Amino acid sequence: MVRRKYVVGNWKMNGLSGALAEAEAIFAGARAHEAVDVALCPPFTLIGPMAALGGATGGQDCHPQPSGAFTGSVSAPMLADAGAALVIVGHSERREGFAERDADVKAKAGAALAAGLSVILCVGEPLAVRESGGAIDYVLAQVQGSLPGDFDPARLAVAYEPIWAIGTGRVPTIEDVAAMHGAIRAALSDRIGEGAAAVRLLYGGSVNGDNAADLLGARDVDGALVGGASLTAAKFLPIIEAAARVG
Ligand code: PGA
Repeated sequence: MVRRKYVVGNWKMNGLSGALAEAEAIFAGARAHEAVDVALCPPFTLIGPMAALGGATGGQDCHPQPSGAFTGSVSAPMLADAGAALVIVGHSERREGFAERDADVKAKAGAALAAGLSVILCVGEPLAVRESGGAIDYVLAQVQGSLPGDFDPARLAVAYEPIWAIGTGRVPTIEDVAAMHGAIRAALSDRIGEGAAAVRLLYGGSVNGDNAADLLGARDVDGALVGGASLTAAKFLPIIEAAARVG
């Protein structure tokens, strides 16, 4: 099974309407690389106008319920209605900052799929767990606890993002990334059988134009989830180009 490379930008809480010019430049540059799927996940406020630029646009979170008395929240059908094609769920900044547990992430992923969105499900260990040698067990438990019960493997990607690598400039060794991705693929295979071959596994955490080719070339790495380096075309396009090169 050939999995298309997938490079996704997570803008986090960055971007006013003036930043749409960067998104436009990113989408225009991405069109030169037909073999790579590219998406940007801006704050809620920019989803509509960014989707109108014609590139794949996603949310960074959604509520598990479709509607109701949940002040400040945005549901998966609302994201789809605004033009989103995908949503990130379970990012460590949500798990840590908003006390989201695996069960919450699972409910959000299920709600997103039901609304017709694709899902990027994030997992990743804290530094102490990595240093104690327990990273693979920790991440596989997150995968098992956060995966929705039933899903179309082509619409779900898992992003492995070690928490200590996010925004720090530190990245795991290529061997550690490949070992983690291999373990996630094997766990998916145990759970859903052959369909596991269609699930794209992204690496995230301090990906930049200099390290992207090595990371994206690692076994079982099908793409990247990129924070800081996705905010400008100058930094993001080299990552997309690296994905196209390693194919
Ligand atoms: P970073 O963020 O690329 O800035 O490390 C990645 C992420 O949090 O998705």
